[in-house]
Amino acid sequence: MSLHQLASPPEITADTSMNKPADQSRMDRIVSLAKRRGFIFQSSEIYGGLNGFWDYGPLGVALKRNLKECWWQDMVAGHDELATLTGAPSPYEMTGLDCTIIMHPQVWKCSGHFDLFHDWMVDCRESKRRYRYDHLQGRWASYREQKVFVTTDISGDDAAADLVGRAQKFFKLRAKQVDEIVWSGEVVPLAGTTPAEAIPLAEALGPDAAEPGTLTEPREFNLMFETRIGALAGDDDDRAFLRPETAQGIFVNFKNVLDTSRVRVPFGIGQIGKSFRNEITPRNFTFRSREFEQMEIEFFCRPDDSRAWYQFWRDRRWNWYLNLGLTEGRLQLREHHAAELAHYSCGTADIEYAFPFLADGEYGELEGIAHRGDFDLRSHMEGKLVRQDGELVLETGPDGKPRHRGSGRDLSYFDDVTRERFVPHVIEPSAGADRAVLAFLCDAYHEDNVPDENGKPRERTVLKLHPRLAPLKAAILPLVKKDGMPEVAIDLYKRLKKRMPCMYDAKGSVGRRYARQDEAGTPWCLTIDGQTMTDNTVTLRDRDSLTQERVPIEECVDLLTERLQ
Ligand code: GAP
Repeated sequence: MSLHQLASPPEITADTSMNKPADQSRMDRIVSLAKRRGFIFQSSEIYGGLNGFWDYGPLGVALKRNLKECWWQDMVAGHDELATLTGAPSPYEMTGLDCTIIMHPQVWKCSGHFDLFHDWMVDCRESKRRYRYDHLQGRWASYREQKVFVTTDISGDDAAADLVGRAQKFFKLRAKQVDEIVWSGEVVPLAGTTPAEAIPLAEALGPDAAEPGTLTEPREFNLMFETRIGALAGDDDDRAFLRPETAQGIFVNFKNVLDTSRVRVPFGIGQIGKSFRNEITPRNFTFRSREFEQMEIEFFCRPDDSRAWYQFWRDRRWNWYLNLGLTEGRLQLREHHAAELAHYSCGTADIEYAFPFLADGEYGELEGIAHRGDFDLRSHMEGKLVRQDGELVLETGPDGKPRHRGSGRDLSYFDDVTRERFVPHVIEPSAGADRAVLAFLCDAYHEDNVPDENGKPRERTVLKLHPRLAPLKAAILPLVKKDGMPEVAIDLYKRLKKRMPCMYDAKGSVGRRYARQDEAGTPWCLTIDGQTMTDNTVTLRDRDSLTQERVPIEECVDLLTERLQ
């Protein structure tokens, strides 16, 4: 999400007391597989780890790179600017950028992040723990003469159970007395749905507190990480920030791209890169991290076509996730209500996924597609803008001067065919690479029963990743380490490796080797056996259908290359 003032919806639906519990045990098994097979590790684990930071291991780095390459190829490098894609008002061009993480501090002042990119936090004076104000929810509980608003920072049905446990502890009851607690009202956010409905903090029992009234008043907390530039840095003027989104690098380079390439509006600029947000409560594995990667497009178009382009990008991005194999039933496209929209936005939709750590009916944001109007380009021309009476105007300070001065550079566009000059409108499909990896991992994770080489059912864990995403595309397995099989297998491995990532594995029974590849998400196994030595065919095993077909060894490389495409 973006600037606090924009009143974005929580990424995860808040009141879930009626929902089914999250499938935490499934999530635990996915996290365990991710660690065990080298997909994702906690950062700096040997020193106890660092909350909100994650490393990608050997299989994870390949999966994440494949995902980013799919995005880059499908959205930017492989885009056909001569074709009119389904739903597009016209053909369009795409190009790319790679901007710095630290930018001129004025960028963040004009974009609004310096003043507005914050969350509200509350501290507990007793437990010394910190919470995001909008993540706390609770319910009024009474026992005899005492009444208190019990809170929890857990979402989903687990929240209801947690509230009961906390109330029991507070009223000092035995388990069999729990039913004597009288609950009133529903589970509601501590912050209320409007400020007037906020629960008085004096009556709220903090999630880890023994007494009510220990939560501090909510305070703003800017999510941008600060740093200092230069060896002699000292005063506030040396303050710089790690970018909280890649988008601004694109806006400030808009003119450079126009002046140095032959792109004409409509066109888009794509960028993949790290972003940093000092999240108050990172949680749910990599879902909310403090360091993460974004894949963002800023698409510049004529104002009068912008609605059609917004629709186009919503559909295009939705289909991208489906084409790479996410289950449609676990995805949802949610249009923001008018009240949720950013002050500059005419429309925003989120593509959301039903992650297993969320209760049934809850979804977490994978990507936002926003119609941003001319807000960004104008902000970097004129200075920080605010909406007044429905119009975007320059924000001024008490002295009447601009609060944050823009670059003063002309970022308008001259259309040499229509002879018109205008500030392009922007459609922004903004995706998170780490969240997408997590969604594809969760979606691909299956446990089933398959017959082993003796026909006996065997439990297996399999990652049914799309072949384009799979870290390894194939494994080459000699049935035994003799009779000339390893030599034939190594020759095939060397030829295939030139076309795609694959591995040679001769260790253990073939059943165990299949199981290892299933867990890694490898779509195909090629087994060299006794028959290979007589008729030059190999067994091609498909991870998902489990079919085994005999394929001439000389055709394997071309066949898999074709299937991969
Ligand atoms: N330029 C617009 C923008 O940054 P956003 O909704 O704040 O919009 C876009 O972020 C995407 O970045 C999100 O949909 C999500 O996939 C990813 N993202 C945002 N914060 C994240 C975090 N703390 N951890 C992991 N991914 C995050």
